[in-house]
Amino acid sequence: MLAALCLQMGCSNSTQQAETSTAAAEDTAGFVDQNIQQAAAQYKVLMEKLPDGELPRTYYASTNTFQTSGSEWWTSGFYPGTLLYLYEETGDEALLNEAKRVLKLLEKEQYNTSTHDLGFMMFGSFGHANRIEPSQEYKDILLNSAKSLASRYDPDVKAIKSWDSDNPKDYLVIIDNMMNLDLLFWATRETGDSTYHNIAVNHANTTMQHHFRPDYSSYHVVNYNADNGEVQLKRTEQGNADDSAWARGQAWGLYGYTMTYRETKDPKYLEQARKIAEFTLNHPNLPEDKIPYWDYNAPNIPNALRDASAGAINASALLELSTFVSGQESEKYFRAAETMLKSLSEEPYKAKVGENGGFILQHGVGHLPQNSEVDVPLTYGDHYYVEALVRYKDLQNQNN
Ligand code: GLY
Repeated sequence: MLAALCLQMGCSNSTQQAETSTAAAEDTAGFVDQNIQQAAAQYKVLMEKLPDGELPRTYYASTNTFQTSGSEWWTSGFYPGTLLYLYEETGDEALLNEAKRVLKLLEKEQYNTSTHDLGFMMFGSFGHANRIEPSQEYKDILLNSAKSLASRYDPDVKAIKSWDSDNPKDYLVIIDNMMNLDLLFWATRETGDSTYHNIAVNHANTTMQHHFRPDYSSYHVVNYNADNGEVQLKRTEQGNADDSAWARGQAWGLYGYTMTYRETKDPKYLEQARKIAEFTLNHPNLPEDKIPYWDYNAPNIPNALRDASAGAINASALLELSTFVSGQESEKYFRAAETMLKSLSEEPYKAKVGENGGFILQHGVGHLPQNSEVDVPLTYGDHYYVEALVRYKDLQNQNN
């Protein structure tokens, strides 16, 4: 990173190099700090709006309507997860107390076996709580959550079922499910029981084999035959078309294989993540600010909607991926993530404090084909944006 900075700025000796590096770290710290302070202020606005017993989902500015969910909804862990990141960065106890209040609402989901989203819901919340203040109570909740998630694994299909179906022959797996594996890797690390790790690895392998196209874009949904694991159909649910590249799906894949490499150190997952990164960053429809349209093959590009959430997930994933490769490739991923973060930290994506219902980012796309949560703030966009800010600062510090 330093080499590239010096190339741009023309450092001629080691003193200049050190000064350049320090200046870059200070710039980054200032940028991150300012955005974290604003994000924390926004989440205090959000906190005030939240009815008892509910979790934030989105906000509709045109009608000034705040939409919430119960703890069973797949996004329920992002709000406490974001609060915990913001608490770590600011030390503001009000954020920690609010996170702990909503974790109580989420607790019962540890026994929920009707969803594959337990990684998002429980590891994205209790995982952070346990990292910050490790406790047996949090560990037990996480372990029960891992058991519930593992109950959805089928050894014949070699994958975790994402969605239940009325047809007993259907076994539906979506690319998003890669994000739930973190919880399973943690459970093996914690207990020494390799079952969880093996399920995660098998799921990642099956997904690698069947979800991806030759250009390393991915299908959203693969429907396996529940009896023998053969692929019956590949299609979309949230994308523009069965053969299109739904932007958030690509981002989940990038993040998911980067994380799987972190947990296994198996180079085939690193290779997969690199290929997905190349698909994303070289795509002719990726705009200059690097925040993707909601689908890389959306109709009406360049007038199609952007999905800020996909931009935030990509930024966070690329920052981690940049640590697993070296030289120009590392620099490329780091700089792309930096562009994404800078874009997201400005209009039109970043909301002014006090506006946007207290959410940090605007212009996310939830489920466009169902006309649900279109061009709105999304808790997961906020979550991965804040995570990426933290990763960006940590990396710049490490490289200093
Ligand atoms: N199904 C999770 C998402 O919308 O990305």
